[in-house]
Amino acid sequence: LTKDRYPQVKRRDFAELNEKHLGYFKNLLGENRVITDKDECQGFNIDWLKSVRGYSQCILKPKTTQEVSEILKFCNDNRIAVCPQGGNTGLVGGSVPVFDEVVLWTGLMNDIISLDENSGVLVCQSGCILENLENFADERDLMIPLDLGAKGSCHIGGNISTNAGGLRLLRYGNLHGSVLGVEAVKADGEVIDCTSALKKDNTGYHLKHLFIGSEGTLGVVTKVAIQCPPKPRALNVAFLGLESFDDVLACLRQAKRQLGEILSSCELIDNPSLDAVTSHLNLKSPISVYPFYMLIETHGSSCDHDEEKMHGFLESCMSDGLVRDGTTTNEIGKMKAIWELRESITEGLLHDGYVFKYDISLPTREFYSLVPVMRERVKDAVRVCGYGHLGDGNIHLQVTLKEFNEEVLRIIEPFIYEYTAKLRGSVSAEHGVGFRKPKYIHYSKSPGAINLMKQLKVMMDPKGILNPYKVIP
Ligand code: FAD
Ligand code: MLT
Ligand code: ZN
Repeated sequence: LTKDRYPQVKRRDFAELNEKHLGYFKNLLGENRVITDKDECQGFNIDWLKSVRGYSQCILKPKTTQEVSEILKFCNDNRIAVCPQGGNTGLVGGSVPVFDEVVLWTGLMNDIISLDENSGVLVCQSGCILENLENFADERDLMIPLDLGAKGSCHIGGNISTNAGGLRLLRYGNLHGSVLGVEAVKADGEVIDCTSALKKDNTGYHLKHLFIGSEGTLGVVTKVAIQCPPKPRALNVAFLGLESFDDVLACLRQAKRQLGEILSSCELIDNPSLDAVTSHLNLKSPISVYPFYMLIETHGSSCDHDEEKMHGFLESCMSDGLVRDGTTTNEIGKMKAIWELRESITEGLLHDGYVFKYDISLPTREFYSLVPVMRERVKDAVRVCGYGHLGDGNIHLQVTLKEFNEEVLRIIEPFIYEYTAKLRGSVSAEHGVGFRKPKYIHYSKSPGAINLMKQLKVMMDPKGILNPYKVIP
């Protein structure tokens, strides 16, 4: 590993870590929570997709907001760059150092602080693993309004910092709505307490939103207040096979109209995406092969009512010839198996070799249009596929190869971003900008908006120590 690993990005003028710095951290956290062993540091230096790699020699593991505050104050005073990291499941290279930034890992900040069973507001530290929060809420007849395939590893603080969308955004909205409060520490160590946990609070600027989706560039999220809806009493999942994307669109319209308020998820999987999990991970599809599959889920409060609606919906889709085959279930094991097909695509694709991963918002009519276009452009790909959050207009378009190939990259980019911009889509629907996309955000953000982002960054982190080289072009 060398400092010139990324030729277009130069290490900025931050301090190189020395014994005095390490001594300060060890005094603050104790020897065990300051990791300097090369092998131990390695996992914190490589992202989930194994496409970005830093060479940090120091991982800090704070347990409290106060410790985070003291770390950041010291780093700011000494001009030490910091990379905040949660579960390290981010898909745009934002969670790992680019050079030797100190990693501030939140995994020991995992206390659940309170749950108000009347309001459903859960307050916890930012390092709680999403799945642990889901289980905690579930035992209390509530649910976390966010779910994604990385739930077993990602932290709620990472979710908030990326404004993660996930599988049920269609129903429960994004985190700007369900996160009622955030506590965050600014680069200079000042703790900003915005944890009022009220549904309604218009006292001035809505500052919590600055931390939701800012990918660790404006502050380190330390605490969260999140609104948990009641756990649904009735759940149904349908897995449907369809012949064309026009049929998919018609089926989406029917689902919205007929399932109405109980529709909780509407996901699309194309055949090559499903093939990635059936062939590489040995999962079994419950129906035979079709060009498109839809996974439709309902959350409601009455089994009879919901089943009646689901059956009505399926009947009309079948009689209109939109759905060629399908299965529907409310058995926990079967629902889980169907969801596993969808949630494992990300992992399945990695088995092809190298994945060029795109996360794009497009007008619903155009949701799939880019996939055949890309297939034409990249003829010798192992796979060009599309899956994702159809109900929210967010497709994950993937091109896989046996190994990375610069020429193919040039065939895909910037074409894909230009195509998206022409349709007024977003070049990052939910994964964020991280290290991989700063030079592309102008495709989706105006010069004035980018300038305001830069001004905010300078105001909140004047020395630029927080997650440098990320997000801001
Ligand atoms: P990390 O990866 O550790 O960090 C992500 C970013 O947040 C980095 O920029 C990091 O610096 C910053 N950060 C982390 N914690 C903090 C903190 N406490 N304070 C300030 N900054 C912080 N994303 C979706 O939106 N929808 C999906 O459906 C989805 N599914 C996924 C499925 C899989 C299998 C995988 C691997 C990833 C998926 N992701 C998805 C991407 C990813 O964004 C989310 O997994 C998650 O939100 C990241 O959380 P994390 O704790 O792993 O954060
Ligand atoms: C998903 O929806 O599965 C995730 O966002 C991860 C991915 O894009 O593969
Ligand atoms: Zn997604």
